[in-house]
Amino acid sequence: STAFPEDPILPKIKSLIANQEQRLICTVRNIYPLEKFQIEWLRGDKTLHVEEPQEPIFNSVQNFISVFNYTPSVDDLGKNISCKATLKLSLKNQEKTTTAEYGPGTIKVSSNNTSVKLGERLEITCHADGNPEPTIVWWKQGETELQSQNHKLIINNASWSQAGWYWCNVSNHVGSQQLRVQVTVVGPPNIPKIQLSHREEPKEGESISIFCSLDGGPAELKLYKQSQSIATGDPNEPTVLLNISSIQITDAGVYTCEAKNDFGIERSTINITVQAAQHDIWRKPDLPMAILPAAGSVSLLTAAVLLIRHFRKKSVSSDITLD
Ligand SMILES: *[C@@H]1O[C@H](CO)[C@@H](O)[C@H](O)[C@H]1NC(C)=O
Ligand SMILES: *[C@@H]1O[C@H](CO)[C@@H](O)[C@H](O)[C@H]1NC(C)=O
Ligand SMILES: *[C@@H]1O[C@H](CO)[C@@H](O)[C@H](O)[C@H]1NC(C)=O
Ligand SMILES: *[C@@H]1O[C@H](CO)[C@@H](O)[C@H](O)[C@H]1NC(C)=O
Ligand SMILES: *[C@@H]1O[C@H](CO)[C@@H](O)[C@H](O)[C@H]1NC(C)=O
Ligand SMILES: *[C@@H]1O[C@H](CO)[C@@H](O)[C@H](O)[C@H]1NC(C)=O
Repeated sequence: STAFPEDPILPKIKSLIANQEQRLICTVRNIYPLEKFQIEWLRGDKTLHVEEPQEPIFNSVQNFISVFNYTPSVDDLGKNISCKATLKLSLKNQEKTTTAEYGPGTIKVSSNNTSVKLGERLEITCHADGNPEPTIVWWKQGETELQSQNHKLIINNASWSQAGWYWCNVSNHVGSQQLRVQVTVVGPPNIPKIQLSHREEPKEGESISIFCSLDGGPAELKLYKQSQSIATGDPNEPTVLLNISSIQITDAGVYTCEAKNDFGIERSTINITVQAAQHDIWRKPDLPMAILPAAGSVSLLTAAVLLIRHFRKKSVSSDITLD
C-alpha cells in the first residue's frame, strides 16, 4: 500500500531579494514508501533544486523535510516559489504542490529623484513583487490623504506645494515595504515682497528694518541699494532682513529685492525717503509738503510707495532735498 503525501507545508517567506540567500524549508508528512519520494523546488516553472531522501528509510509512514538555501537572481523576481512533492509510482505519479506566500522585497520606482517644471506633468511608477500580489499606495510625507491607490503617482499640473517626499507603500498580508522618492518642482521664482518696518517715511536717526521675502519655489534672495548688493539670503531661507539701527539721509534711495534661480529673476523695489530730523523747535507746523511720485522699476508690483515731506526750516530758508 502507499500513503498519498499531504500538501507540502511551506512557511511564509518574509521577502525574496535578489542576491540575498534565503533558507527555505518544505515539510511533507505521511509519506509511504519514502524511497519513491521526491521534492522539487520551483521558481515560476523553472526547477531550482530536486531532493530525494538519503536518510534512513523505514518500512513505515514517514515525514520528510527539505532545507534549501536559495539565492534569488534578478531575473526570477516576481515569480512564485513553490515546493512540489512527488511519489513516483509505477502507474501514475502522485503530486502535491504548495506555492509560498511571500512579502514584498525589492521595490522599484521609475525614478528616485524627480524634477518637474511648474505646471507640467510627472508620472512615477512603483512596482514590487509578492504573493499574494501586494497592494500599492502612494502618499506624501506630511499629508494624510493618499495620493494614489495604485502603482502610478501622477502630478498633472505641478505647483510649488507638490514638491516634497512621496512614499510608495507596498503591502500584502505577509509584509510591507516602503520607498520614498523626492519630487522637486522647478521654475522661475515668484515675485518677492519687500517691506519696511515703518509705515511712513522714517525719521533720521530712527531704527528701521527692510524685510524681503519670497513664497513659492526656491531662489536666492538678494537686497540691493541702487546697484550695490547689501544683503544676501541663505539659499534655503526665503527671507532677507536688513536692520539699520540709525537711519541717515544718505540711506535714502531705491532698495531692490531680487529673487533669482536657474529659471529666472524677479524683483521688487521700494523707494525709501528719510525725513530730516528737526533741529529747530520753532518750525512751522505742517508746512509745504511736496509729494513726489515713486518711479516704477522692473516689477514694482509689491513696492510700497513712500512719500517724502520737505520740511522748511524757519531759520534757514532752504529746502533739504533727499535723493
Ligand atoms: C502565484 O501563485 C498564486 C497562488 O498562490 C497565484 O494566484 C498567482 O497568480 C501566482 N503568480 C504568478 C506570478 O504566477
Ligand atoms: C532608487 O533607490 C533605491 C535605493 O533606495 C535603489 O535600489 C534603486 O536602484 C533606485 N532606483 C532608481 C531608478 O534610481
Ligand atoms: C495649473 O495650476 C494653476 C495654478 O493652480 C492654474 O492657474 C492653471 O489653470 C492650471 N492649469 C491647468 C491646465 O489645469
Ligand atoms: C506605509 O507603511 C508604513 C510602514 O509599513 C505604515 O506604518 C504606514 O501606515 C503606511 N502608510 C499607508 C498610507 O499605508
Ligand atoms: C534685526 O532686528 C530684529 C528685531 O527688530 C531682530 O530680531 C533681528 O535678529 C535683527 N537682525 C539682524 C541681522 O541684526
Ligand atoms: C525716490 O523718491 C524720491 C523722493 O520722493 C524721488 O526724488 C526719487 O526720484 C525717487 N526715486 C525713484 C527711482 O523713484
